[in-house]
Amino acid sequence: MRFTPGVHTPRQYRNIALVGFMGVGKSTVGQVLAAILGFEFYDTDRVIETRAGKKISDIFAQDGETRFRAMESELVRELEARQGMVISTGGGLVVNPDNMASLKKHALVVCLWASPAVIFNRVRHQAHRPLLQTPDPEAKIMEMLELRRPAYQQADVLVGVDFRSAGDTARHLAQSFRRLTQGRETAPAQPAKTGADPTAAKRA
Ligand code: S3P
Repeated sequence: MRFTPGVHTPRQYRNIALVGFMGVGKSTVGQVLAAILGFEFYDTDRVIETRAGKKISDIFAQDGETRFRAMESELVRELEARQGMVISTGGGLVVNPDNMASLKKHALVVCLWASPAVIFNRVRHQAHRPLLQTPDPEAKIMEMLELRRPAYQQADVLVGVDFRSAGDTARHLAQSFRRLTQGRETAPAQPAKTGADPTAAKRA
């Protein structure tokens, strides 16, 4: 796990936002983490589906990806007013730098990182992700992961999940979050090092 210090203005950590590629386990980790912290679990994909009254694959097919991205950005703005939440984000949400900046106003942003092979194994039997409905999903995963890597690396914390269970990841994050926020309304300008492994995400 890698914590990125060097935050120049004091940050508020009222929420935790989980970002990262499709299939890395954001929803599973998020639900466990929310239960440990007594936070509300919020999944941007599920809220969008409820509001649209249809599945994400239908939003993509009928309204287009641009409409879906607009709905994501709208949700992200609303979240700025919230607290006590673990927010699981759709895999492409933080590709828009405005969305990442918005999340950082109120949340500790945690990126779950997995290797393309692990991601492929997890998603190969699932059909609900429109962006992976291609003849060669493994190649598509590698390509998209490389393109998105710079965006994901803007997260405050990078966690390699190839060799960690969702429960372990959640417990570890809960501990780090508590340490970071204990006794403070806002985070210090330089979050303390956690003994985290700064290279984990790159090695994963
Ligand atoms: C997307 C990821 C999906 C969903 C949509 C687009 C992406 O969410 O938001 O299919 O662009 O990576 P998950 O990461 O929860 O699969």
